[in-house]
Amino acid sequence: MGVKMQRIAVVTSGGDAPGMNACIRAVYRAGVYAGVEIYGIRRGYTGMIDGDIYKIQRHDVGNIIHQGGTILGTSRSDEFRTPEGRQKAADQLFEKGIDGLILIGGDGSFKGGNYLSEETGIPIIAIPGTIDNDIAGTDFSIGFDTAVNIALESIDRIRDTAISHGRLFFVEVMGHTSSFIALEAGIAGGAAYLVLHDGHQEVEELCLHLESLFTKGKHHAIVVVAEGDHPGCSFGISKQVSARIKMESRVCVLGHTQRGGSPTSRDRVLAAKLGVSAVNALLNGQGGVMVGEIKREVVFQPFSDVIGKQQTTDPRMAVLSRILTGF
Ligand code: F6P
Repeated sequence: MGVKMQRIAVVTSGGDAPGMNACIRAVYRAGVYAGVEIYGIRRGYTGMIDGDIYKIQRHDVGNIIHQGGTILGTSRSDEFRTPEGRQKAADQLFEKGIDGLILIGGDGSFKGGNYLSEETGIPIIAIPGTIDNDIAGTDFSIGFDTAVNIALESIDRIRDTAISHGRLFFVEVMGHTSSFIALEAGIAGGAAYLVLHDGHQEVEELCLHLESLFTKGKHHAIVVVAEGDHPGCSFGISKQVSARIKMESRVCVLGHTQRGGSPTSRDRVLAAKLGVSAVNALLNGQGGVMVGEIKREVVFQPFSDVIGKQQTTDPRMAVLSRILTGF
């Protein structure tokens, strides 16, 4: 039997996501339960390279379960993309006596973590934390449910103005190249049309659809746009559509409002499950895996099965949205 792990570090990396704090808390509590020290790494991989690592105390994780963001801070580090940068980070971890690492973040962060693990042998358990929900090997990533609900609340609010003024609105949501937020918030928010990054909708089709709706008596409409590769793309789309159908329109880019705020219960519970499972996995000798949840079961998948394998939306959801938008 191997020597028991003594010190586990936790780091948040890449874009923050609501529920990361609940996850850090879960990692700490699971560590205390198992008699292991938990260390926090500040500012993502940047802080790891700088050795900004401290022992988490009980009071550090008090009253954070409901807070958005991450108490550890986060970053997107260029230096960590180099072997030299990762070596510096590894040296810091070894110096602090860290035996295992829990990494909360998205695909880009997992790539870096995978290299670190391969180059140094340090066992790493990754936890999916991104509002984009684009990570393979889990039904949902931490932060997605909250982001959808924030987007939905915004759509509901915009609807009041759309109805009052009889206006056409374009509401752009985050998600990078994944359309999960657009699909869920669009369907739940009763959008008249969804412009999905991975769909085939064209401006031409959108115009015809809106004209047909307005001919049938509709006097306002909300179009939800997935930002895709070009945040702000909805300004161009709105301009084209307004010119073509001769109707004024307004654009609202929800942007980072979707990343902040108090996590939903679903995100907190997911964070709790994955955080505790990650600690247990390290203590059971696992490494080089991501912990996720599929059909309500906690599952572990090797990095090679999840990294770079973007989860895509269910095409049946796009069909559903078209039915509901009144085609
Ligand atoms: O990956 C999360 C995400 O919020 C994407 O949805 C968005 O495109 C991107 O991050 C924005 O990144 P930044 O915070 O660096 O502007």
